[in-house]
Amino acid sequence: MTENTPHNALPAAAPDGHDYLPAAGRDSLLPFYDLLTRAVGMTKIYDTLVDSAQLRPGQRVLEIGCGTGNLIVRAKKSEPRLDAVGSDPDPLALARAERKARALTGIRFERGYAQRLPFSDGEFDRVLSSMMWHHLPADIKDAAAQEVRRVLRPGGTLYLVDVGGRVAADEGRNARRALHNPHLTGNLGNAIPDRFAAAGMECAEIATKRLRRIGRITFYRATRPS
Ligand SMILES: C[S@@+](CC[C@H](N)C(=O)[O-])C[C@H]1O[C@@H](n2cnc3c(N)ncnc32)[C@H](O)[C@@H]1O
Repeated sequence: MTENTPHNALPAAAPDGHDYLPAAGRDSLLPFYDLLTRAVGMTKIYDTLVDSAQLRPGQRVLEIGCGTGNLIVRAKKSEPRLDAVGSDPDPLALARAERKARALTGIRFERGYAQRLPFSDGEFDRVLSSMMWHHLPADIKDAAAQEVRRVLRPGGTLYLVDVGGRVAADEGRNARRALHNPHLTGNLGNAIPDRFAAAGMECAEIATKRLRRIGRITFYRATRPS
């Protein structure tokens, strides 16, 4: 996510020689990422996602694409007896996340890609994902959805927030940009629930909110059947 992200600033190919799109679009912008998230209003979005997930003592919780750790650290602070893991392909973002979590126990970070998670089958009660799904190229989203299902225990649940759902050109500038951004078109309409349904999960839209400069974002819940 960059200041203009996600609508008009994401490059077609990943920059800086990476095989992933970093949090702020480029490594050099990463130091500004947390400022940006606060400026667009992500703090409330993290809180909403954590509340929705109904986290309980002793649960094992994974965030995929955790970036600088804002969401998973918040989740851990909301329920200190969680066993929390943040995963991201970007070592620079993970180093920042580790610094944020320095004073906490029962939270760790591991380098990993959503489409090949370095975790065992059924290891987690919850998987969280915030503004990561639009960073995945369209051709790996199916693999990522299957990986989420694999690492969740039967009955376990994914809580995801991103640009998604119904977007129409007459909804304003952000909507029109979303309709032309290749990173976002793979999220729009029913694309997110359809992908998780294809992976064998029961997925539903649970809420929508607006972010400054970005527009409407949608919260989803997807459960691995028991
Ligand atoms: C906009 S940031 C979101 C970070 C964090 N979840 C938040 O809400 O602040 C998107 C993150 O997705 C990560 N990412 C990109 N490609 C990925 C992939 N294939 N698997 C997992 N994460 C990926 C990026 O490195 C980046 O940290």
